[in-house]
Amino acid sequence: MGVTASIAIHRALDITSELRKRGHRVTVVMTPNSQRMITPLTFQAMSLETVYHDPWAVGPSRDHDHIRMAQEGELFLVAPATASTIGKLAHGILDNLVATTAFAFEGPRLIAPAMNWRMWGKPIVQENLKRLEGDGWDVIPPAEGDLACGEQGPGRLAPVDEILRRVRDALPAPPPA
Ligand SMILES: Cc1cc2nc3c(=O)[nH]c(=O)nc-3n(C[C@H](O)[C@H](O)[C@H](O)COP(=O)(O)O)c2cc1C
Repeated sequence: MGVTASIAIHRALDITSELRKRGHRVTVVMTPNSQRMITPLTFQAMSLETVYHDPWAVGPSRDHDHIRMAQEGELFLVAPATASTIGKLAHGILDNLVATTAFAFEGPRLIAPAMNWRMWGKPIVQENLKRLEGDGWDVIPPAEGDLACGEQGPGRLAPVDEILRRVRDALPAPPPA
């Protein structure tokens, strides 16, 4: 799961925790800016898995993290997705681990945008999402309602239950017992 610097980031903790409770293994990848909002440690505590964020990290693993995760993962979800990350993914700007992992991933890819209604209404954001859909991404549209900035409108991250339903529907069926 790719996590980006939207104010809805706290819901990514709920998504991580719910997916884990349902028996999924969740590997969280964070953008640099998202870590200014919630630390990798919190996602590690929720997922009980290593959290990845530094493409340049030198550690015990000699793999390229973005390629290994792209090969091992069954589904890639970006939630919440900022306007900036949507733009990067739509144009192949791969300057962080969320973008490089998403780009290398070949299975089902879901993206749940979250932003202020003014940003959501920008043609460039809508064009970028259309580009992503054209590239095979499944967009989970935001809801309408109270926004973190105190305004009302479209741009609220889709409800967690809706995101979980879309993940369940997109996951490959388990092999027969
Ligand atoms: C408090 C705060 C809340 C923000 N919320 C959002 C948001 O909900 N959606 C969005 O697109 N950008 C939001 N931004 C702007 C992004 O954080 C900014 O564009 C950042 O560069 C995105 O980085 P990332 O997509 O690489 O994580 C917010 C910024 C701040 C400081």
